[in-house]
Amino acid sequence: MIISGKELAASLKAQMAAEVATFEERYGRVPHLAVILVGEDPGSVSYVTGKAKASAEVGIKNTTIRRPATISEEELLGIIAELNADDAVDGILVQLPLPKHINSDKVIAAIDCSKDVDGFHPMNVAALWQKQPCVLPCTPKGIIKMLKVAGVEIAGKNAVVVGRSNIVGLPVSKLLLDENATVTITHSRTKNLGEVTSKADILVVAIGRPKFVTADMVGEGAVVIDVGVNRDPESGKLCGDVDFAAIEPKASVITPVPGGVGPMTICCLMENTIECFLRKQA
Ligand code: GUN
Repeated sequence: MIISGKELAASLKAQMAAEVATFEERYGRVPHLAVILVGEDPGSVSYVTGKAKASAEVGIKNTTIRRPATISEEELLGIIAELNADDAVDGILVQLPLPKHINSDKVIAAIDCSKDVDGFHPMNVAALWQKQPCVLPCTPKGIIKMLKVAGVEIAGKNAVVVGRSNIVGLPVSKLLLDENATVTITHSRTKNLGEVTSKADILVVAIGRPKFVTADMVGEGAVVIDVGVNRDPESGKLCGDVDFAAIEPKASVITPVPGGVGPMTICCLMENTIECFLRKQA
């Protein structure tokens, strides 16, 4: 079975649009998401465009602030301070990665935690790992939603995560653990990686290398979640971290790239923006 993140995201966005349509009357305004894009990296431009498009579909106000890669850290922190102080802004997102002269950790920590729709703020991350209420990071949240909708039982399963980034690898491992999977976190330098991955009931790959996972690394009947977004060096087309054509016949469930995890990430961003907005209305 191929899980279409695109279709699931479309149906969830339609539900959110119906909910948001009642907000003007109930609360006098709609949620407002501010997205900051520094530089012109094509991947980041495409993500930010997708976020603006999804906002329009759901009825969320989106302000995308574009600045050149030469912007100083101080100037960027100034923009964040203004958005923090603006009561009409519910969510703030700084598209990553940032240019090297800017300290990303400092920038993320500068975002008002109550407007941290990415779930990247240190206080949010701490809350996640301490089992406190928090904004769940979008990609891991989207992955768990996809697994549930596909009817994949997570409890008691052997989940292997390839990748240990703050954005995906670490938080998705935590969410799988919270669903009572037994989780192994691996990375590109794990010894005998294929031996470990081939024993996975659920395999989540977030390493950022085209076709990094080959068919021999996947067990028969595994559930394969591909978080990679890469360019195939041969065809120039978008491709994931797993060799889809070779692995699809072996997997019981698999996500495609494009059209898998990516649309779910954006869908969960919309959900988080609504959540931050509603928290303020209480
Ligand atoms: N870059 C890659 N994924 C993400 C994401 O989910 N949020 C932000 N802000 N930047 C990203």
